[in-house]
Amino acid sequence: MPISESDILRWLREEDPVRLEELFAEADRVRHENVGDAVHLRGLIEISNICCRRCAYCGIRVDNPAVERYRLSREEIMNCVREAVAYGYGTAVMQAGEDYGIGREWLAGIIAEIKRTTPLAVTLSLGERPDEDLAAWRAAGADRYLLRFETSDPALYAIIHPPAPGKAPTDRIAILRRLQELGYEAGSGVMIGIPGQSYRSLAHDIATFAALDLDMIGVGPYLPHPETPLGSRAVAPAIDPAEQVPNSEAMTYKVLALTRLACPQANIPSTTALATLNTVSGRELGLQRGANVVMPNLTPPQYRVLYEIYPAKACISETAEQCQRCLEGRIRAIGRQVGQGQGGRGRRA
Ligand code: 5AD
Ligand code: FES
Repeated sequence: MPISESDILRWLREEDPVRLEELFAEADRVRHENVGDAVHLRGLIEISNICCRRCAYCGIRVDNPAVERYRLSREEIMNCVREAVAYGYGTAVMQAGEDYGIGREWLAGIIAEIKRTTPLAVTLSLGERPDEDLAAWRAAGADRYLLRFETSDPALYAIIHPPAPGKAPTDRIAILRRLQELGYEAGSGVMIGIPGQSYRSLAHDIATFAALDLDMIGVGPYLPHPETPLGSRAVAPAIDPAEQVPNSEAMTYKVLALTRLACPQANIPSTTALATLNTVSGRELGLQRGANVVMPNLTPPQYRVLYEIYPAKACISETAEQCQRCLEGRIRAIGRQVGQGQGGRGRRA
């Protein structure tokens, strides 16, 4: 019996450290039983920080003039991909802002080349692209797509995620279902502790992960960026302070553990946002409380510093090689192994 939404809500409010240890141990057991001890490495390539959207929380939103913009060339992307292969990663994740300079055919060509020349799974995380783009990239060989729905509360979503200028609001849940229909493994997730997020809505977010039968779920703390409306408090959703979820490390572990109990088979990363809150042991604690994936950064260092969706991001000044060593060491130190192969959940029919 998967965990119910009312139990999720009770656990989110739990403060007793002894009981929380029981929750974490149960999440670790369920992780071990369902997805094993392997930790899959997904090499993250931040291919462009150009974005046409105005998400109220995100540092690379279109109207942050302080950001110097970049887009990697095909050759730069393929160099990162070759590094992923050399380091033994099973997956290349291409992530960007919603950048329509990333053309349908251009990216399809790159995806096809990766699939033709490497054994990697290809994951895309490129925002709310039109159906024709998603279908073309799937046809070119892309395996997975990540699109966090950010919150299941429609009123809060409307505040933090305004529609593109002149466009109707989009429905990320509908896009996720469409991705599944196209045969992608679909991933989603939320930020923890966004202003205006109540315990009740966060419990509903986690229940929604299970209802959508997601293959991948990313959850990490909300980290305020001063150059954004939400981070500078120019936008402040009304909420009873007793109902506001904190954007804390402790809350992140609860959500990771509950996500594992709600979705035993899912691939769940220990996120960079969590590592940013606790650079010493955040990644490891995430892996010991439900997570089974990490995403070492492959973006060339000169671009990496420009992909600042939130401040003080972990790994911002490390090289791909440093992240590779760091993560493999951390995985071994907690008695887990680096996953072999693509580490997918398996193709949909
Ligand atoms: N703090 C934490 N996470 C953030 N993201 C974007 N901005 C922030 C922030 N300020 C997350 C969003 C997005 C993912 C790529 O990064 O959930 O979907
Ligand atoms: Fe990048 Fe540890 S993962 S330095």
